[in-house]
Order: sequence, then structure tokens, then C-alpha cells
Amino acid sequence: MIEQQQEESLYSLVEDFFRNEFSTDNPLITEAVRRMLAAGGKRLRPRLTLLAAEAGGAQPQEHLPLAAYMELIHVATLIHDDVVDKADTRRGVNATAVDYGNRISVLAGDYLFAWIFKNVTAQYPAPIPHILSATLADICDGEVLQLRALANLDLPLSGYIDIVLKKTASLFAASAECGAIMAGTSAQRIAALRDYGLSYGIAFQMKDDLLDMTADEMKLGKPVGNDLRERKMTIPLILALERGDPEFRARVERFYDGGEDEIAGIIVEIGRHGGLDGTREQIAQYAERAKLSLTPLGSIRARGVLAGLADALTRD
Ligand code: IPE
Ligand code: IPE
Ligand code: MG
Ligand code: MG
Repeated sequence: MIEQQQEESLYSLVEDFFRNEFSTDNPLITEAVRRMLAAGGKRLRPRLTLLAAEAGGAQPQEHLPLAAYMELIHVATLIHDDVVDKADTRRGVNATAVDYGNRISVLAGDYLFAWIFKNVTAQYPAPIPHILSATLADICDGEVLQLRALANLDLPLSGYIDIVLKKTASLFAASAECGAIMAGTSAQRIAALRDYGLSYGIAFQMKDDLLDMTADEMKLGKPVGNDLRERKMTIPLILALERGDPEFRARVERFYDGGEDEIAGIIVEIGRHGGLDGTREQIAQYAERAKLSLTPLGSIRARGVLAGLADALTRD
């Protein structure tokens, strides 16, 4: 049994891995990545890996490097994502592109991916490298699908889910699945943990979209209102448009066509058309689905923690 204190020291070992083991042959890239790791972040993906390993009956401390690689994949995607989304801040500090420029950011993200896969292919058996490569392909695919759907006011909720499954849920699913596989647990438990990751990941991105419209920028550590600025089709907007008010649709259309408008005013309208509450309902549904996926685990500590993470998404 791992108690609270032991769990905290486990996560500080993940931080030790970043401090002591993360170094590349390129000092500029090492510095850029370290800076981003030091800025914080919730460390949810490594958390899922260690909890899945525990749920699979392993000693989680034996899987710290795997957990750390999951966070590093995430960090590399964020470095690129901020270039694509033109976001200036991340984790409360300048986005990598602000300090190092777009060109170094693209190369640093590429380098980091290559560094991770060089290590993972040398250190882990099949199917771990395959799962991680497929996940990275999905993330890029999801980001491209999102770009192609920019300002597409007819994007249905199902199209949004397809994008989110790839760009966000795939990494949560892989983080849980790989932890479970390395623990050597049954196919049924591996599938349960992967399914949890998928539903949790969808709920997580929905919450992220909600926070882009409701959070305090200082607390969030990254820009708010950026999704509307970038003409993204996020879930609060999709649900608000589904209500079918032609005036509201025309207003969004004008703004997404390049017209002047106040983002704060559009957010108020999205709220008035049920987009924010509708998103909260969808988050709750996917969080429930995530918890239900855990049934094959029986009553073990890790299941309770994973359920708690899903529940946390339903609180503002
Ligand atoms: C941000 O992820 C990217 C999304 C998938 C929305 P997190 O919200 O987990 O970012 P950090 O790691 O805490 O900074
Ligand atoms: C998630 O989407 C990005 C990735 C999966 C890389 P967002 O673009 O919404 O993430 P944030 O809001 O910038 O963290
Ligand atoms: Mg972004
Ligand atoms: Mg976002």
C-alpha cells in the first residue's frame, strides 16, 4: 500500500529524473526543455503511468523513467503547440518561442521527440515503442485536423471528439496503457486503464476548452480567450451554436471572418446559449465513463486515486 507521503516522494523522484537524467548533446535545447520542466505543470501523464503500474500490481518506483518519458513527450508537443497556436505564455512563463524564437522551438521539439524515442527504443520491449510512435502520429494528426476545422461553424460535436481523441486523449491513454503493460498485468486490466485514459483525456480537453473562456490568466499560466482568437472550434462554442440562434451564429461568423469584436462579449453569448453549462455536462459524462472503465480493477488504492482525478475535472 502506498500512502500519501510515499506517493509524494514518488513524484519527487520523477522530478529527480528530469534534473539528473535529462540532458542532450545540445546545450541550448537542454536549457529550453529544462526551463519548461522547471516552470511546473500538473504532471498528469506521468501520474497516470505510475498509477496504472500500481494498479497492475507493480512497484511504481520501478517505472519512473517511463513516466518521465510521457511527460517529455507532452512537453515537446506543448513547445510545438504554442508555435502553432501563437501562444505567448505557458506554465506561467514565456512560451519557448518567445524566448528562443519559432525556428529553435520547432527544432527543439523535434530534437526532444528524437531523444525520447532513441531512449525508449533502446530500453523498452514491444509494444511500448510502437504505442508511443502511434500516439505521436495521432497527436500530430489531431492538431492538423484541428487546423483544418478552424472557423468551421458546422463542425459537429462528433467531429470535435474525433480531434480531441487524437490530439489529447491518445497520450493519456498511452500513459496508462504503457504503465499497465510494464506491470505485466492482464489484457483486461490493460484495456480498462487504456479506456480510462481515453475518456479522461476527452473530459480533460473539454475542461481545458472551458478554462480558456472562464479562467483567470494568471492562475492558468497561459493565455485565456486564445481559442476564439485563433478561430478554433472548441466545445463551448459548438454547443452554443447547436442552439440555432441565427444572430449569434452571424456574430461568430463575422468575427471568424476577421471582423472586429470583443472576445469577452462573445464568451458571454456562449454562456447565454448554454455553451458553458453544456460543456460542464459533457465533462461530467466523460468523467463518469472514465470511472466506469475502472470496474475490472476491483477495489484497490490506485482505482480510487484515478476516480478522484476524473471527479476533479467536474469541479470548477
Ligand atoms: C495542456 O496540458 C495541453 C492540453 C492537452 C490541454 P496540461 O493542462 O496537462 O498542461 P501542464 O502539463 O499542466 O502544463
Ligand atoms: C492541446 O490543445 C494541445 C496538445 C495536445 C499538444 P490546446 O491547444 O488547447 O492546449 P493549450 O490550451 O495550448 O494548453
Ligand atoms: Mg494550444
Ligand atoms: Mg487549450
